[in-house]
This record gives sequence, C-alpha cells and structure tokens, in this order.
Amino acid sequence: MILRRIARFAPPGARRAVVGAIADLKGLPLRLSDPVRRRDPWNFWHNVGDGDFLAIGATLLANLQDHAGLRPIDQVLDIGCGNGRVAAHLAPVLRAGGGYVGFDVSRRGIQDCRRQFANEPHMHFELLDIRNREYNARGRVAEIDTVFPARDGSVDLAFATSVFTHMRMPGVRRYLAETARVLRPAGRFAFTAFAIEPGREASAGFPFQPFDATSAAVDARYPERAIAHWRVALEAAVAQAGLRLGDFLRGHWTTGGEYEGSQDLFVAVKP
Ligand SMILES: C[S@@+](CC[C@H](N)C(=O)[O-])C[C@H]1O[C@@H](n2cnc3c(N)ncnc32)[C@H](O)[C@@H]1O
Repeated sequence: MILRRIARFAPPGARRAVVGAIADLKGLPLRLSDPVRRRDPWNFWHNVGDGDFLAIGATLLANLQDHAGLRPIDQVLDIGCGNGRVAAHLAPVLRAGGGYVGFDVSRRGIQDCRRQFANEPHMHFELLDIRNREYNARGRVAEIDTVFPARDGSVDLAFATSVFTHMRMPGVRRYLAETARVLRPAGRFAFTAFAIEPGREASAGFPFQPFDATSAAVDARYPERAIAHWRVALEAAVAQAGLRLGDFLRGHWTTGGEYEGSQDLFVAVKP
C-alpha cells in the first residue's frame, strides 16, 4: 500500500517498475509451483500489466476468434504487441498458412518476442521508435507521424489490445488511418479501449477524470498511464478513417460488462 502511494508520485518508468514488482511478488507462488509459468515475463521489467499472462492471452485470442472472425490463413497485424501475450496463442493457429507481424515501441518487448518465436518463420516482430510518454518517452517519431510496417491492403485482421488505453486521441486517429491503409477490403480491425459513456465514466480501479474534449485520464500529469476516450469520439474517429463500425462490447472495467474482457471491445471493417 505504502509502495503504491509512493509510486503514484514517481515518473512513469519508476512507477511502473514499483507496480510491476508488486505484481511479480504476488505472482511468485504460482511461478514457483508451475513450470509452465516460469516463462511468464517479469512485470517490473516488461510492463505487461496485472493479471494472469497466459489466461488473459488465451481470452484475447478467443475474442479475436469469436468477434473478429480470425482465420488460420489470415495475415495478421498486432499493433503494440508487447511481450507476445496474444502472439503466444496465435502462433500455433497461424501455422496453417497465416502470417503475423507484431510491432511495438518497447525494445525489451520486441527483443523478448524475437527470442521466443525464433523458430516460428511466420512470426515477425518490428521495433518502431515512436514516442509514448509511458512506454518510450525518448522515441524519435511522434504517434501522429507513425507509419505501420505493412503494405497497403495487405492485412486481413489487425488488432490493438490495451494500446489505445495509453494513447491520446490524435495518435489514435493516426493509428486508425494507418489501419485503414493496411487492411484489405473486408479486412477487420479489433481494438480495446476504455470507452466512456454517460453513467459509465469511471470505476474504483479506473478513477478517470476529464482530461480534454475527447478523453479522461487517471492521472492528468501522465495521461498515457491510463486514458479513456468518449465512445462517441472513438466511433467518429473510426468513421473518419473510412472504417465501418461493427460490434461494440462493453468490458468489465466498470459496470455493464457484456463479454469476457476487461476493456471495451470494438470491431470495425474496411468496406
Ligand atoms: C498494456 S501493454 C499491451 C501489450 C499487448 N497488446 C497485450 O495485450 O499484451 C501496452 C503496449 O502498448 C505499447 N505501446 C504504447 N504506445 C504505443 C504506440 N504508440 N505504438 C505501438 N505500441 C505502443 C507498449 O509498449 C506496450 O507494449
């Protein structure tokens, strides 16, 4: 508790290390008792977030299958792939003829993924030096200038899990435009977000406060730590990028959860 309080006032890197170390201590008994769990990334080093790494990855994959029509032959783009939480479950599925590119701004994350998937020729990982105050504060390229590592119209399914929850709206708009560029016609995009709506604006775990016209943040000094966007603003941005909105499912981060997932899930299609 005291460590968490201290962490609240520390800059992003130090705060995440402390919060990560607490999560690691909590997970230590499981890690020691189950050999499969020994390969879980360390939170204080990798910033993968709270919760059960394996189980959450499996749920995220199931969501792509159930709600975004993932097929084993798909060319997939994982935007902000982190430490391969979803990639670990996707790799065997896509061995049937699909392909995968994951990119991230985290050098550690990409190095770790390249090691993990060294013997999986259909799994590729790219490091992009994009600036994000929470994850890569010294990055050279602004989020609004990002170019995804994929050719126009080459992707069947793109997804971004727990990434727009760390990006301000101008960056999100750019990522939606880039997604529209790389998707083939009828290609799908699934992303998660904290999509605030009247009556569903915060929770005990996520005490969002108004930040700007489109968004709310847990900590206005470091909005990229956890940022929510108004659902209407996200929907307008999706339409502006030229994508057609499909399913919207409310997650369990606050009241009214409708599917197996913490953040709200959007699915969009390229016409
Ligand atoms: C909470 S983690 C989620 C990782 C992964 N998507 C998952 O579900 O396991 C957030 C990830 O977003 C990445 N990230 C932050 N800003 C980014 C950006 N502008 N472009 C791409 N990735 C970004 C971080 O480096 C981090 O790996």
